[in-house]
Amino acid sequence: MQHTANPSTKTWPRVAKRITSLIDQPWITAMVRSSAVDDTLSGLHPMLSLLQVRARVVRILNETDDTKTFVLQPNAQWQGAQSGQFVRLQCEINGRQIERIYSLSSKGGSRRLAITVKRQPLGLMSEHLHHNVKVGHVLTISPAAGEFTLPSLPPSKILLLSAGSGITPVMSMLRDLQAQQYAGDVVFVHSCASPEDRIFASAIDSIQAAMPQLRVISHYSRIQGRMDTQQLQNYVPDLTERDTWMCGPAVWMDSIHALWASQGFTSKLQSERFSTAPMRTAEPGEPVAVACETSGVTFQTKDAQNLLVQAERAGLKPKHGCRIGICRSCQCIKRSGTVENLITGEVSSTPNELIRICVSSARSDVALDL
Ligand SMILES: Cc1cc2nc3c(=O)[nH]c(=O)nc-3n(C[C@H](O)[C@H](O)[C@H](O)COP(=O)(O)OP(=O)(O)OC[C@H]3O[C@@H](n4cnc5c(N)ncnc54)[C@H](O)[C@@H]3O)c2cc1C
Ligand code: FES
Repeated sequence: MQHTANPSTKTWPRVAKRITSLIDQPWITAMVRSSAVDDTLSGLHPMLSLLQVRARVVRILNETDDTKTFVLQPNAQWQGAQSGQFVRLQCEINGRQIERIYSLSSKGGSRRLAITVKRQPLGLMSEHLHHNVKVGHVLTISPAAGEFTLPSLPPSKILLLSAGSGITPVMSMLRDLQAQQYAGDVVFVHSCASPEDRIFASAIDSIQAAMPQLRVISHYSRIQGRMDTQQLQNYVPDLTERDTWMCGPAVWMDSIHALWASQGFTSKLQSERFSTAPMRTAEPGEPVAVACETSGVTFQTKDAQNLLVQAERAGLKPKHGCRIGICRSCQCIKRSGTVENLITGEVSSTPNELIRICVSSARSDVALDL
C-alpha cells in the first residue's frame, strides 16, 4: 500500500500515534482485528493501523546513479530491528499488490529506518520506488526479520564483506559497531564496479574517521577485475581469524564458501542472499491433513500452496520472514509425512526433519511441530 500524507497536516503523525496508542488495548485490538476496520482507520490517516507497520518516507538520498536510500519514519506498530535484518515492502503497482524484500541499511534500534534500493532495469518494485515514491508517501512494511545479524557480544576480529547492493545489511552492522563503540578490529572489504558506484561512500569515510581500528578496502571490478578468493586473501591475510558477515552476488558468495570449506577455516562465515531460484508450482493433488502438534490444530489443505500459506488460512500465525526460503524464520520440525521442496523439487519423507514451511508443499498427511 502506498498513500500520500497531506503535507499541510504536519501534526497528523503525532495525532495518528496518539490515537494508535489509545486504541492499542488488548480488548479493542481483539474487536478490530479485521482488515475492514483497519482500512477505515487508514482512511482517517495512512499511518494509522493496528495490524500493519506503516512508514512515512521522510528523506530520499541519491547514493549513486542507480541507488537511492529511503529514510522511513515508522508508526507505532514497528517493533524495532537488529542490524542486518530485512523488511518486506508492499506496494500497489499497476493495480497489483507487489512485495519485495529489502535489508535495512540503518543500524538496528534506530527510531528511523532506512532501505537502500538499487534500480534494476525493468524491475517492478525498484523502478517504482525510484520513479514514483516521494517524500511524504506512506509505505507498508513487515516487521523486521532475518537471522543475518551480529551477536550481542561481537567477536574481537570481524570481516564485513560485500559486493554491489549487498553492502546494505553489512552497512547496517558497521553503523551498529560504531554506535556501540566497538573496540575490536574490523576490516570492511567492498567490491563494486567503479568509484562512482560506491554506495555509502561518504558515510563510510566518516565512520572510518571515528573508528581508527577500521580498515576499509574498496575493490573496483571494472578496473581490477572481479575480486576472487586469492585477492581476498591478499587483502585480508588473517582471514582465518575473522568471523565474517558477507552479502553479494550468489556465485561470488559460493566461491567464498568454497574457500572456507577447502581451507578448513574455523572462523564463522555468515551470508545473506538477495535471490533464490524461482519457486515451482506443486501439482495440485488430493487434499491432505496437516496436524500441527504444538498448537493442537489439524486442517485440510485446499490446494498445492506452501504450508505457510495453508497454515495461515487455517488461522495459525507461524513465524516467518522472507517467505521465499532464505531467512529460515519459518523453519519447523516435520514429524512425519511427505513434503516437496518448491525450490529444489526434492520430495522427502524423512521423519523429524527441519523444513522451511514457506517453500514446502504437503504431498501426504503430515505432522508438524507448529
Ligand atoms: C534478504 C533480501 C534482502 C534484499 N535486500 C536488498 C537491498 O538492500 N537492496 C536492493 O536493491 N535489493 C535487495 N534485495 C532484492 C530485492 O528484494 C528485489 O529482488 C530487487 O529490488 C528487484 O526487484 P524488482 O521488483 O525491481 O525486480 P523484478 O521485477 O522482480 O525483476 C527481477 C529482475 O528481472 C529483470 N526483469 C524484470 N522484467 C523483465 C523483462 N520484462 N525483461 C527482462 N528483464 C526483466 C529485472 O531487471 C530484474 O533484474 C533483497 C532481497 C532479499 C531476498
Ligand atoms: S519465511 Fe524465510 S525461509 Fe521461510
